[in-house]
Amino acid sequence: MTASTLTATPAAPALAQTPQRKLFIKSFGCQMNAYDAQRMADMLRPEGYGEAQSPEDADLIVLNTCHIRERATEKVYSELGMLRDMKEQRRDSARPLRIAVAGCVAQAEGPEIFRRSDVVDLVVGPQSYHHLPQQLHDVALGQRVIETEFPADDKFAHLAAPGPDAIRRRGLSAFVTVQEGCDKFCSFCVVPYTRGMEVSRPLASLVDEAQRLAQAGVREITLLGQNVNAWHGVGEGGHRAGLAAVLARLAQIPGILRLRYTTSHPLDMDEALISAHRDIPQLMPFLHLPVQSGSDAILKAMNRKHGAADYLALVARLRAARPDLALSSDFIVGFPGESEADFAATLALAEAVGFASTFFFKYSARPGTPGADLADQVPEAVKVERLARLQALVEAQRHAYNHAMVGQTVPVLFEKPGRNAGQITGKSPYMQPVHVEAGLDVIGLELPVTITSTSTNSLFGHVAPST
Ligand code: SAH
Ligand code: SF4
Ligand code: F3S
Repeated sequence: MTASTLTATPAAPALAQTPQRKLFIKSFGCQMNAYDAQRMADMLRPEGYGEAQSPEDADLIVLNTCHIRERATEKVYSELGMLRDMKEQRRDSARPLRIAVAGCVAQAEGPEIFRRSDVVDLVVGPQSYHHLPQQLHDVALGQRVIETEFPADDKFAHLAAPGPDAIRRRGLSAFVTVQEGCDKFCSFCVVPYTRGMEVSRPLASLVDEAQRLAQAGVREITLLGQNVNAWHGVGEGGHRAGLAAVLARLAQIPGILRLRYTTSHPLDMDEALISAHRDIPQLMPFLHLPVQSGSDAILKAMNRKHGAADYLALVARLRAARPDLALSSDFIVGFPGESEADFAATLALAEAVGFASTFFFKYSARPGTPGADLADQVPEAVKVERLARLQALVEAQRHAYNHAMVGQTVPVLFEKPGRNAGQITGKSPYMQPVHVEAGLDVIGLELPVTITSTSTNSLFGHVAPST
């Protein structure tokens, strides 16, 4: 998980609105935060906020924060420390700098942020972004504003449909939020506290958004949720339905070439969703399916409600449905009580599955989660050493996976010019970035590419001649 920046671009000429103020959003954490940053920018554009190229150039800086590990949270306070001088210098100028803290730290720490940093004007939780214009109005009057309530009524009010201008900015590949929140309460995790209980968005609303994205030129949709395969609702025939029904419906939309979803929990991987990987050609053969640990004792202590053998059996069923399915995972090392034997079981599971890509984290005790109160916390040095061993294994797996693509011809959806002149970059079905020498006219097309070489993170090849 890396920090990313997102800025609002100036309003399209058709709207004839000159931005008077400038916005800079710095996002941390997961894809949900990246998506929320787009929504915040969309919402503030009609308020006259245009693009700031840098924090120095901005009238409003939004830190869109992540609370998942201690280091992510502390980053917020170091960022705020760095912004202090900038804000001070502009205190009495015609362009005072306003600073907002949004995202999961805002939700989790609320007023504590005001106490720890006097540079913050606004603290806003993820469920309250639809009130940003009003909040900023109050800030302009000199108030310090905080809003971190979970709305009691319409949990999706803040997901107001993006307008046509906002949709055009999505490019070829767009996220569509299908559910928010999580009820799983894994004992290490803050998400159920920062994002609230699991709520699914009605099918009609997400089909409508997907249709409008497709009409605006989007070719790939990634369904997004903290626990995306917990989605449940009423399908088209009036029956109760799960995520497989959503995928089947979206696959009918003309123009949508590729569908993906993230992040899934193994327990919510039902038969219909497994079959969807066999039956829906647009559903890409890549699945991020976090397992966290390979030890049954640790999985139990983590409250994951499945064992290592269950996970392996699930992988086998998925691969039976879609033999070329590439799998990715999250692992936590050093959960309280993790012995060397427990960790060996994690290595064994990773070895058995053969992941195409993996994220791995040292356990970070989060205040308020049950894991933080467990005895037997693992010393930092042990975590560091285990992380290095896991990293060596999964990196070797990733290289082997990428290297095995050499000589294969795979469909690539071309998205944008590459870093080098004459280069165009796209994605393989398996989420690998692919670079080819080609003209700009291939952007937006899905074409067969023969892979000729690999680097640490990418594949290189040439567009295969059509037969
Ligand atoms: N909803 C997803 C991901 C949640 S957060 C899921 O269920 O898998 C992304 C990842 O961060 C998690 O999968 C986990 O591996 C990691 N993570 C969460 N809490 C953590 C903690 N306290 N310490 C270290 N890693 C953590
Ligand atoms: Fe956190 Fe577990 Fe929910 Fe994932 S499933 S968001 S790890 S509580
Ligand atoms: Fe972080 Fe919140 Fe996402 S804690 S991982 S930004 S849901």
